[in-house]
Amino acid sequence: MRLLITGGAGFIGSNFVRHILTEYPAYHVLNLDKLTYAGNLENLAGLENHARHEFIHGDICDPALVERTLSRGVDAIVHFAAESHVDRSILDPTAFVTANVAGTLNLLDGSRKHRVGRFVQISTDEVYGSLGPSGAFTETTPLQPNSPYAASKAGADLLVRSFFHTHGTPALVTRCSNNYGPYQFPEKLIPLLVCNAMTGMSVPIYGDGLYVRDWIHVRDHCGAVDRVLQHGRPGEVYNVGARQEMPNIEIARRILRAFELPDSKMQYVKDRPGHDRRYAIDPSKIERELGWQPKVSFDEGLSETIDWYRSNTAWVEHVRSGAYLTYYDRMYSQRQQTLSEL
Ligand code: NAD
Ligand code: DAU
Repeated sequence: MRLLITGGAGFIGSNFVRHILTEYPAYHVLNLDKLTYAGNLENLAGLENHARHEFIHGDICDPALVERTLSRGVDAIVHFAAESHVDRSILDPTAFVTANVAGTLNLLDGSRKHRVGRFVQISTDEVYGSLGPSGAFTETTPLQPNSPYAASKAGADLLVRSFFHTHGTPALVTRCSNNYGPYQFPEKLIPLLVCNAMTGMSVPIYGDGLYVRDWIHVRDHCGAVDRVLQHGRPGEVYNVGARQEMPNIEIARRILRAFELPDSKMQYVKDRPGHDRRYAIDPSKIERELGWQPKVSFDEGLSETIDWYRSNTAWVEHVRSGAYLTYYDRMYSQRQQTLSEL
């Protein structure tokens, strides 16, 4: 089995690469990543010389690179690569449309041409928009994306849907809630708060802090993607979530408590424009049809995540200083896969 994983140097992608290499001794992983600010090869430390892991530095928007990669023979694509941070999409939506919409289209085109056996699109619950105080998103909830990020992901999902219907591309979509866990870039709520609390800094809370997200440990998300890759029905959408809703200030309280810091360290800051009030995922379909269940409770997962950031001070320091951006040259440049070599 040759698996093309895009965005495998990012947070979820790198966790998924490790998951696949551990669970499937016969799988060969091609890991295609552009190494944007969010791509960090230190997330893949230890895999530099792994016999079944090949890192390809490149852009999913590059048709020649995608063509050359797929012509080497790929059985399935798991597509994580994306611009992923809502706040950045408010400042620079073009980058999001390019990577998330045009990049996905380029992969779908290549996938059709090379008759790739399966295409798993990693999407998000944000495509459904915002919820009131009750209810949860199901796979039939209308798409009402509110941020440029969410709109670009919804656009990609609709392209995936169109390729299934028009060309019979064996594509599947997962829509997961908020992930947390090791290797998450500290621009997102949990790692940002943990990294700030580690040095006694205050933690920024947008608006009134009563925005609700539905949290899942990245390990559980990876397990769900694996299940969809192996057993999902092409053309279907699968929501993924762990039924662990929580307001942001409760997360902040727990993190501050773990560092023995007072609640007064919460600093209320200007709200995110268009901030979605509440997300909640109904994961009944993947539970029922594919027998998937989350395993990590939020208490256990958060304390494990805090420990990970506490113990991986070099990783945190390299992100803070920007040194992680040079890891490629230090560890991979001699082995770089150039277009002519592919
Ligand atoms: P991330 O920002 O940590 O990683 C994204 C990776 O994609 C980076 O390594 C980056 O270098 C790479 N990338 C970006 N543009 C690229 C391009 N044009 N070509 C090749 N590589 C490119 O993101 P993440 O949090 O790991 O999210 C991964 C996927 O999961 C995204 O598609 C995101 O929409 C989705 N998702 C994330 C969450 C979450 O809570 N983080 C939840 C649901 C879904
Ligand atoms: O729901 C899935 C989505 O979760 C993914 O598709 C996105 O890629 C991922 O970034 C995440 O989006 P959110 O916007 O929900 O995550 P973020 O960590 O940016 O923010 C979580 C909540 O915390 C949100 O209500 C905004 C708030 N927040 C965030 C930051 C960074 C703060 O209050 N303070 C902060 O400093």
